[in-house]
Amino acid sequence: MNAPLILPSRRMFLGTVGLAFFSTRGLFAEELIRTPPQTEGPFYPNHLPLDTDNDLLIINDAITPAVGEITHLTGRIFDEKGTPIRNALVEIWQVDSHGAYLHTGTANADKRDKNFQGFGRFLTGSSGEYYFRTVKPVSYPGRTRHIHFKVKRGGKELLTTQCYVKGEPGNEKDGIWRSIRDAKARESVTVPFEPIKESKIGELAAKFDIVLGLTPESE
Ligand SMILES: [Fe+2]
Repeated sequence: MNAPLILPSRRMFLGTVGLAFFSTRGLFAEELIRTPPQTEGPFYPNHLPLDTDNDLLIINDAITPAVGEITHLTGRIFDEKGTPIRNALVEIWQVDSHGAYLHTGTANADKRDKNFQGFGRFLTGSSGEYYFRTVKPVSYPGRTRHIHFKVKRGGKELLTTQCYVKGEPGNEKDGIWRSIRDAKARESVTVPFEPIKESKIGELAAKFDIVLGLTPESE
């Protein structure tokens, strides 16, 4: 599926985010914390999947979805002044429920969930919002749960980072998470994965806003 996937619940949980942002804009601008860069790691897909849309649960028009805790992952891309960035290409990649990446060098290659897309892209509109449907990543030897992010614009890479799960005991033992020395910066990449009340199948919602440390040239 190439069209961005939009679920009815999306507007609901993004609506409150927008309100909070606009009503405290001055304060928010002062408190903006640049999203710290993090290593790309060795598992950016070496062969992109046939389907690179923002629904990682379904590859093309497959009937069987990926296995895992369904997570609606959203956020907005801002510049350092708090201005939403449009036309930002947000890419994510992560392990499936067996700890396998979409990469020929992954661990657990034999157990890899063939229904999981492993990688996705979303191009932001004027609100700077992105949206992915994915699974909550599992931890694997040496790493706490995390989702890799890359933000590009006009073919330029602006940021490579990782997003973490708040309250995850493994965070404190993760050398890459700990390498972000500033506590507030670390907090900015560590977000709650919370149950969606209305969901009867236990879906989760996570919101990860990204603040780029530069103002991209206007179009
Ligand atoms: Fe990783």
